[in-house]
Amino acid sequence: MSTDDSRSGYRRQNQTAWNRLSDGSQFAKTASDEECRDPLNALDGRGWLPPTVAGMNVLCLASGGGWQSILYAAAGARVTVLDLSPGMLELDRREADRRGYSVTTVEGSMDDLSMLHDESFDIVHQPVSTCYVPSIVKVYQEIARVLRDGGLYISQHKQPTCAQITQRTERNQFIVGIEYFHEGPLPKVEDTSYREAGAIEYLHRWDELVGGLCRAGFVLEDLREPRRADYKAPVDHFGYRGRFIPPYVRLKARRLPRQQSTGSTRLWLP
Ligand SMILES: C[S@@+](CC[C@H](N)C(=O)[O-])C[C@H]1O[C@@H](n2cnc3c(N)ncnc32)[C@H](O)[C@@H]1O
Repeated sequence: MSTDDSRSGYRRQNQTAWNRLSDGSQFAKTASDEECRDPLNALDGRGWLPPTVAGMNVLCLASGGGWQSILYAAAGARVTVLDLSPGMLELDRREADRRGYSVTTVEGSMDDLSMLHDESFDIVHQPVSTCYVPSIVKVYQEIARVLRDGGLYISQHKQPTCAQITQRTERNQFIVGIEYFHEGPLPKVEDTSYREAGAIEYLHRWDELVGGLCRAGFVLEDLREPRRADYKAPVDHFGYRGRFIPPYVRLKARRLPRQQSTGSTRLWLP
């Protein structure tokens, strides 16, 4: 096992990378006043959330940066935001203070939620971030543990093909240069359209992303591929690449009642 793959290696390096990105990057965009006026619509254009989240316990997982946490707080939820980066969490605290919201911030890694109690959340909302940990299995197990029966898990992930692209030809065709069954940290690549500078990333296959979710005690209720195709974008822009390779997948999953989820064997729900 390389040092980068060791427990502290990926966390330390990704914490440094994300602290840097907390300073003015597109991922550190806090919720606007306009978004706060209609927070559920800003958070969820697909109708995956219930009509109200007021009073619900929501875990914004790996969501530092003052966007998701502030919107859920604006919608009346009791919000905990957990993130690896103190820099990103500082934005959540600053925005919550400024707006008079109460948001609990926790510095930690998504693959160890031991500081959070069993069955303590109604909703877990996770933006693209599982690519920063070597094993998605532990992440799903932890989310299944902290969610109540019937709780909602909304997440977005990088698609495996997105992680496999290494470079372009002189005709701007994309080269799948990393094997599908690649293990360990992804190598550096020439085409960094969907890579974050300085971060260690991992490829998670469909078996892990979707099958793993079911094996962890969830039922999948919906799956969407957000469009990142931009037909006006120049060829070196990520929007051009989005015409050929869908970068992300969004999953809506529901925590099965515990008595109905028995390891890999599932009982049919009525
Ligand atoms: C794409 S950003 C998402 C945040 C942002 N609010 C958004 O949606 O634009 C990914 C987040 O994952 C966090 N992160 C990376 N590795 C993590 C880990 N192991 N555990 C928890 N958070 C992690 C980063 O600090 C960063 O805030």
